[in-house]
Amino acid sequence: MNKGLQVAIDGPASAGKSTVAKLVAKKFNYVYCDTGAMYRAVTLEVLNQGIDPNDEKAIAEIARQVKIDFEPGESEQRVFLNGEEVTHAIRLPKVAENVSAIAAVPEVRAEMTRQQRQIAEKGGIVMDGRDIGTTVLPNAPVKIFMVASAYERARRRYVENKAKGIDTTSLEELQKAIELRDKKDSTRKVSPLTQAADAVRLDTTNLTIDEVVDKISQIIKKTQDELA
Ligand code: CDP
Ligand code: CDP
Repeated sequence: MNKGLQVAIDGPASAGKSTVAKLVAKKFNYVYCDTGAMYRAVTLEVLNQGIDPNDEKAIAEIARQVKIDFEPGESEQRVFLNGEEVTHAIRLPKVAENVSAIAAVPEVRAEMTRQQRQIAEKGGIVMDGRDIGTTVLPNAPVKIFMVASAYERARRRYVENKAKGIDTTSLEELQKAIELRDKKDSTRKVSPLTQAADAVRLDTTNLTIDEVVDKISQIIKKTQDELA
């Protein structure tokens, strides 16, 4: 039997990481871990507690205290924060607006990285985020850097929000917000969003979800054969 590999998927907002990562995990019977949801959950708790987004000490304390759990749901993975379901709450615009600042706090990153390494320890995992291939799992044998044009990414998120009934701004505003978040994520000091030297770059602008899943599956199978 093939040993379960660590599969790292990074890239900017709405490139298709989580949708594809979930399907790949299902196909290979791997665990899926959405690290963005972890940073979003910390952000939600910071907002709920009314903590000043500049108070790094208090934010670091929240990151150490919160308990984040995932459970498989019917159509999407369910996320729990201190035992309460926050699957939809972490997708609200107020969370998206603040998450990059919270995720730039070094102690928050250190704590999330520690938890993510623990989750990925046994292999058989597809983990998506911004720094998985560069920082969290630098030895992962499969690394994908997923990109798509900013317009296409905003369009996808807009359609998704509408379908889910999530409060959303105009397509133009959404594109601006996504570009701003990408900029913050790419320019922060600790673990910025960058392509790992050994990652495969995948532009999904003109690809369907199934096509992306197929491409990544082929890479996983090839790597499994090489390591067998
Ligand atoms: O789903 P979307 O692409 O909008 O973002 P996400 O994956 O839910 O991540 C939300 C935010 O968390 C990102 O914009 C980053 O600021 C932060 N993040 C991070 O810093 N490192 C990760 N490994 C994952 C997310
Ligand atoms: O996780 P990330 O923020 O990178 O993106 P996502 O949440 O997986 O994808 C954002 C939206 O784009 C979802 O509604 C997907 O169904 C859609 N999508 C798409 O239309 N075509 C793709 N090739 C990939 C994702």
